[in-house]
Amino acid sequence: MASLTITPLHPSLGAEVAGVDLSRPLDAPTRQALDRALAEHLALVFRDQTLTPEQYLSAAATFGPPMEQHYSQHNMPEHPLIGLIWHRNGQQPAEQWHTDHTNRERPPAATLLYGVEIPAAGGGTSVANMRAAYAALDAAERRRLDALATFNSLDSDKTDTRAEDRAKYGAPIRHPMVRTHPVHGSRAVYFHVSKATHIEGMTPEASRAYMNDLLARMIRPEVVYHHAWRKGDVLVIDDRATMHRAHGDYDRRQSRVLWRVIVEGDRPR
Ligand SMILES: [Fe+2]
Repeated sequence: MASLTITPLHPSLGAEVAGVDLSRPLDAPTRQALDRALAEHLALVFRDQTLTPEQYLSAAATFGPPMEQHYSQHNMPEHPLIGLIWHRNGQQPAEQWHTDHTNRERPPAATLLYGVEIPAAGGGTSVANMRAAYAALDAAERRRLDALATFNSLDSDKTDTRAEDRAKYGAPIRHPMVRTHPVHGSRAVYFHVSKATHIEGMTPEASRAYMNDLLARMIRPEVVYHHAWRKGDVLVIDDRATMHRAHGDYDRRQSRVLWRVIVEGDRPR
């Protein structure tokens, strides 16, 4: 087993992992230790990695089987399980708080991002601990959320979705608004504002207003780790108990390229 050093980066979540070269095959004890570390810290940072697409995908499989990403126009042509996050191909930074691919029956356990080109300033990624956010709500609201569910489809605000992706991934999927972590057993608030068509029993307008109100109340600096990118960083985000957002506060004349892999998790319960 590799000798791992895990150093917390923020009081609520996030830890830097030293002593692992993700370009090399990882043995079973190391993989198990990383999987447990993710469930505990919710965001893991590996610095100074140099990865080919093949090496990146095999490292990502530590956290679950890589799954198809539904905006296929942004996938790497020769390695379609890797999505390119790059504003120069027409994408806008995802600045709204969210968790990934909630329109899947088995949505991701984790999202991995690898920093390939990083602007000189800004362009960070923030991750919020939705386990802590849930715990901070009052008991009546926790009980209310425990009983609610969302219906999820592709983002309502995207106009360039391919017909084939719409056909494959557009069907409504119901998920609870509180997700139980399969490794840790904790409970966390779970939804995606623009993928949720509505909350069961509520109008779309009232659903969206309630979700935005929840975000405004729940996401406070005490539960947010902000990742300032360095080239070669790999950031692993536990999608079962966090939300994340990008920051578009960088000079768009500079390039920002992240390679994204999502890995399949359990059906939320
Ligand atoms: Fe995302």
